[in-house]
Amino acid sequence: MTALYSCLRDKAVFITGGATGIGATMVRTFVQQGCYVAFIDLNAEAGAALLAELQAELPAERASFAAVDVTDVQALQQAIDAAAQRFGRLDVLVNNVANDQRMPTAQVTPANWRQCHAVNLDAAFFATQVALPFLQQQASASVINFSSVVAVTGKVDMAGYVTAKAGLIGLTKALAREAGAHGVRVNAVLPGWVRTERQLNSWFTPEQQQRWLEDSALKRFIQPEDVANLALFLASEQSVMITGQAIQIDGGISLSD
Ligand SMILES: NC(=O)c1ccc[n+]([C@@H]2O[C@H](COP(=O)([O-])OP(=O)(O)OC[C@H]3O[C@@H](n4cnc5c(N)ncnc54)[C@H](O)[C@@H]3O)[C@@H](O)[C@H]2O)c1
Repeated sequence: MTALYSCLRDKAVFITGGATGIGATMVRTFVQQGCYVAFIDLNAEAGAALLAELQAELPAERASFAAVDVTDVQALQQAIDAAAQRFGRLDVLVNNVANDQRMPTAQVTPANWRQCHAVNLDAAFFATQVALPFLQQQASASVINFSSVVAVTGKVDMAGYVTAKAGLIGLTKALAREAGAHGVRVNAVLPGWVRTERQLNSWFTPEQQQRWLEDSALKRFIQPEDVANLALFLASEQSVMITGQAIQIDGGISLSD
C-alpha cells in the first residue's frame, strides 16, 4: 500500500536508469503521485515500452523518456537541462543508474575500473551538478542517491561497484552540506537484495534466497515497491529535516558475508 503525498502533486522528477528494475517502479510510483517524470536509460526498448504504458493512461506531457548513456556526461546533463526546461521546474533528482557487473579483482583492467565508476559514481555527481541550479529554486527539493548495503558490508567480486557505492555516501554527505544552504536535501538509499526481474533471473538461486532470509531480521524479501516508498518519503515534505543520511532498507540484514 503506497501513501499519497499531496505535496508531490505536479512536482517534477528526474530519474536515471528508469527503464527497468527499481528505477521503473519509481517512475510508475512518482507518476501515480501526480508528478511530472522524466527518465533516461541505456535500454531504449524498455524505456520506450514503459513510456508507452504511461502515456496510454496519462496526458503525454506528464512523462518523458530519452535513451542516454550516463557515461556521456554531456548527454546526461543535456537530458536533465531539457527536462527541467520542459517542465519549467525540477524538484527531485533520483540518481538510480547502476551497473552491478561482477568480476574477480585479478581480472579488473584500468578501463573496467573507470567504466564502473563512470556509471556508478560519476553520473550521480554530474547529474546533481547540472540539477542543483533548478532544485535551488524550489522551497523543498531533494536528491536521492542510490547506494547499496554492500557499501557497508562489502561483497566478493565487486570491488569497483562496492567502492563506487561507498563513494556515493561520501558524495551525499558532501553535497548535503553544500546544497543545504539553498534548501536542497541530499540523501542516500542503501537497499539490500531487492527482488527485481533482473536479480531474480541472474542471481536469486534457491540457496541464495534461503541464506538471505536466514541473515535477515525480517523474514521476507525486499520488493522494488518497498524501495520506491522510501524514495517517495525522501522526495516529500514529510522528510523536510532529513539530509546527509545513508538509509539502509535491507530488512535488518546481518553483517555476515
Ligand atoms: N536490486 C538490488 O538488489 C539492489 C541492491 C542494492 C542496491 N541497488 C541499487 O538500486 C538501484 C536500482 O537497482 P536495480 O536492481 O533496479 O538496477 P539495475 O541494474 O537492474 O538497473 C539499472 C538501470 O540502469 C540502466 N543502465 C545501466 N547502465 C547504464 C548507462 N551507462 N546509462 C544509462 N542507463 C544505464 C539499466 O539499463 C537499468 O535499466 C541501483 O543503483 C542499484 O545499484 C539494487
